[in-house]
Amino acid sequence: MAITEAPRPGILRAMSAQKSVDDIVAANDATDGPHLKRSMGFIHLTALSIGATLGTGIFVILGAAVPKAGPAVLLSFILAAVTALFSALSYAELAGTIPVSGSSYSYAYATMGEFWAWVCGWCLMLEYGVSVAAVAVGWGGYINTLLHQLFGVELPAAITAAPGEGGVINLPAVAIVVLASILLLRGASESAVVNTAMVILKCVVLVFFCAVAFTAFKAGNLTPFMPLGFLGVSAAASQVFFSYIGFDAASTAGNEAKNPKRDLPRAIMASLLIVTVLYLAVALAALGAMSWTKFSADEGATLAVALSGITTSNVPAIILSVGAVIAIASVVLAVQYGQTRILYTMAVDGLVPALFAKVNPRTFVPTWNIVICGVVVSLLAGFISLGELANATSIGCLFAFALVNIAVIILRRTRPDLDRTFRLRLFPVAPILGFLFCCYLMWALPVATWIAFGIWGALGLVVYFGYSIRKSKLRVDAA
Ligand code: ALA
Repeated sequence: MAITEAPRPGILRAMSAQKSVDDIVAANDATDGPHLKRSMGFIHLTALSIGATLGTGIFVILGAAVPKAGPAVLLSFILAAVTALFSALSYAELAGTIPVSGSSYSYAYATMGEFWAWVCGWCLMLEYGVSVAAVAVGWGGYINTLLHQLFGVELPAAITAAPGEGGVINLPAVAIVVLASILLLRGASESAVVNTAMVILKCVVLVFFCAVAFTAFKAGNLTPFMPLGFLGVSAAASQVFFSYIGFDAASTAGNEAKNPKRDLPRAIMASLLIVTVLYLAVALAALGAMSWTKFSADEGATLAVALSGITTSNVPAIILSVGAVIAIASVVLAVQYGQTRILYTMAVDGLVPALFAKVNPRTFVPTWNIVICGVVVSLLAGFISLGELANATSIGCLFAFALVNIAVIILRRTRPDLDRTFRLRLFPVAPILGFLFCCYLMWALPVATWIAFGIWGALGLVVYFGYSIRKSKLRVDAA
């Protein structure tokens, strides 16, 4: 393997060692031994990104964001969408140039070196691993609403809430993570087919919500439009940014895509466009149907509540809750998939133990990787509250996005010769804006989130310097 460093590097040299794009692609294309199978086309990849994106953010977190911004939460959605858009352009260009399963981790490896790749991979564990847990907690909320709507019963708080929220363990959240892990163990194409079906269903349910909610639309509900000022809009934007997380999931399927160079960029952009249109329509419909003062962070099933205030029949609210249960389950599936594939790529590079890259020769999936992720995420989902998890997810994700915007600029300068199937326009303005928007939304997150992020980062440094830097394939192969 060609590397751009001396055989026995000093620590700084080791940290900045880069993998060439050609090596990254070649290592991931290697077909010796059991390997991931190319089974996903454009539709599956787009569905993977929508599957990972559209869920708790719109079905649950909308309710917590409205009290912060009032009807101007619409602006918050736009601000978050613009942030996501600039970063999506950078993702699309890099995914078309470096079409492997490591997403931003691999892009950072090829542009900024091993240390930043590690930082990126560590942040992606927040974006993916922790967000699965957050989403699973949101799922538990809707399950309870559905049980109440259908049978008039609710599961006791002891088994539906984390310890900090008056419970002992959130069992529904644990159950959905376990179910998703079992499906992932069966194979990538099986998971992709189930995911695509769930994605179609959740889009239909949201369109149904809009159709019902718009019948009760009152323009008066949108005034005053910005009762809590622009600071409220920013705070809500940081929070609803969570609902856009996941559009990059297609970039974790580079090794399983049939035509990654062509389809990954298209899938990323298509999924972001579809979810943005849906979010704005749903938020507008919900705000028009119900006064913003009635939205509450304590009410998990926001959209179902909005519908029950419109019609005397509870059928629409039940349809919505069923849809939400399926929708959020698909986020768990898609995001859990992404987490396992990022770890797979890091294991191929030696930065995490090789066990994570061990592929089952019968199912072509990384079995141990899926099992370990399933156990860790179940524990998070069972014992930590949604708000804490969601904010931790957002900060990790925004940090990774910020790095991707830098990576795209570096790669254009260092490797202008590479074949780019998608070239973002307005270079370098678009990635610079993407970077600044990410920083702005990070700044607007609560101090407690920053502290948690600091602790997570410190832990990452311990793992990197204690393990990864010594085991890195770049070093081992060069010795
Ligand atoms: N964007 C994903 C959701 O809203 C994480 O559930």
